[in-house]
Parts: sequence; structure tokens; C-alpha cells
Amino acid sequence: MILDVLPGAGMQRHLLDVDALSRTEVDNVLDLAVKMREARATRSSRSLLEAETVGLAFYEASTRTRVSFELAAKALGATVVDLNVASSSVGKGESLVDTVRTLERTGITTLVLRHSAAGAPYLVARCTGIAIVNAGDGMHAHPTQALLDALTLREALGPLDGRVIAIVGDVEHSRVARSNLHTLVTLGARVRLGGPAAWVRGFEGHPGIDVVTNIQDALVGADAVMSLRVQLERSASGGISSIREYIEHWRLDEARMRLAAPNAPILHPGPTNEGVELTSDLANGPRSLIGRQVENGVPVRMAALALVTGAA
Ligand code: NCD
Repeated sequence: MILDVLPGAGMQRHLLDVDALSRTEVDNVLDLAVKMREARATRSSRSLLEAETVGLAFYEASTRTRVSFELAAKALGATVVDLNVASSSVGKGESLVDTVRTLERTGITTLVLRHSAAGAPYLVARCTGIAIVNAGDGMHAHPTQALLDALTLREALGPLDGRVIAIVGDVEHSRVARSNLHTLVTLGARVRLGGPAAWVRGFEGHPGIDVVTNIQDALVGADAVMSLRVQLERSASGGISSIREYIEHWRLDEARMRLAAPNAPILHPGPTNEGVELTSDLANGPRSLIGRQVENGVPVRMAALALVTGAA
């Protein structure tokens, strides 16, 4: 079936990463998301997950991802519980696995998990019997973000075959970039990773991926450009000498974007540090698809929840 089935985890479906998805499977999720957008607008999806209880456990900060998962689950008619990690027994030292086992006993059937440790969703998928949807694990993966980015790009550019998508900035610390690499290459695009040398190291030599270390090479002729947040909380400053220098060499603005294909759109997963990785004018100007990315979050997460629960 379409999503990861872990060895030893029976037939339970999870969405842990996008790396195992074929092109047809990615296309199917995106097609389902388009149907979900329509179903949400007409309120015809309201009984699809009425037997399900979806838990949200966010061990790291989140606005877009958490809110859109909650709205997605509600649009499908599920009962939704937000664990509210800061005020839960996690503060008393309860382990992640014990916490999820407790949630399972209360009747939660699907858990949306964000965690600072790469691999945390895999661990709980092995140790518990509930469906796990990865909402971002450390620097490893952010599958639903990659799927919503792919939908946004597909709707802006048409089929992505042969298109050049530049991902610019703090690639090293970005789970969004790692998941996007998989889906974009799977959909036939060429991905150009651009950033200070320390932030793009190790990505060379992969099929479909080019690595560049200056902004001109990153942008020239690109069909779309994805800017990434400088992740200071993950010691991002380790790879650059100063934010001021980063701004000088890498901040995206309208003048630099003219190197890209005419009208090439700009994307960013958010939250943005306007003035650091891109200018406010660019983030809020006519090229920007940043709002569209947020809008696509709900239908893509509706599709993900419907698929892991077997409702679609
Ligand atoms: C991203 C994340 O948390 O991985 N944000 C998001 O989910 N939209 C990117 C980031 O924090 O920079």
C-alpha cells in the first residue's frame, strides 16, 4: 500500500518519510489532496474519520503544521486531542514511548508527532500499535511539508519534469530540504542546492541533485526558488562566520531573483526571518507562493490522515 509499513508493525500504516514513495504514490497523494480541498469547501468530508481519534504531540514549536493538522483532522470529522506537551507528564520525566502508550490506552488511534530527535516517529511506530504521522523529526524529515510544497509547485509550474528547483540557504539543518529532495527528484525535477559550503556539504553526487556555493550559480535559470530559514536553534551559526555575511552573500531579493527564470516563484516553508534569508518585499510580493503553501497544508494533511487510517 501507499505508505510505509514497518517490518514487525503488522499492517499498520504510517507516514514517516517520503523517501519510500514512488512517483505514482506521490502523485496519488497530491491528487487526493486536491479532492480533499474540494471536499473541505463543500463540507462533504465530515464523516470520513468520525471513528478516529487523532492526537497531536508537538515536542517542538509549530504554528502552521500543528494548526493545519488539527483543522485537517476536524475537517474529516475526527475527534482531536492536543497533548500540549509543555503541560503534560512529559514535564515529570515520562518517556516518549510511555507517553505514546498512554495515549494509545486512552483511545487515540492516530498520532501526529513532532520531535527534536531524528527517528523518534520510527521508534514509536515500532513500540506502539497506533498510526504515526511524522510532523518533523530533528533534521531528518518533514514529509507533509514536502508533499504540500510539491503540490504548490505542481499547481504553479505544471508537471515538474526537467524543471530546476533551487533550494537555498541552511540546507544542512533542514528536514524540509531533505524531504523535498526526495519528492522533487521523484517527480522528475532537478534540484539545485545552494548555500554556504558548510551547509550543503555531503549532498554532492546524488542523482538529480546539483550543489553550488554561490548565489548566482544557485539562481541562474531556476524555475522556482525555495528559501530556507537560518536555523539558529540548531547551531546553524556554526557553518557561517556571521549573519551579516550570510545576508550579504545569500539573502534573496528581487534583484537576485532576476537571475532565475522570468517570474520564477519564491517559496519558503515558514516561519521566515524576513531580512535574513529573504527580503520582506520578496516574501510579500507577486512572486511569493508562501501563503499558498500554508493554504495547501490543510488538504495535504487531510490526504495524509485519510491514507494512514485507511479511509482513502
Ligand atoms: C519548518 C520545520 O519546522 O521544519 N517549518 C514548518 O514546518 N513549516 C521549517 C523551519 O522551522 O524552518
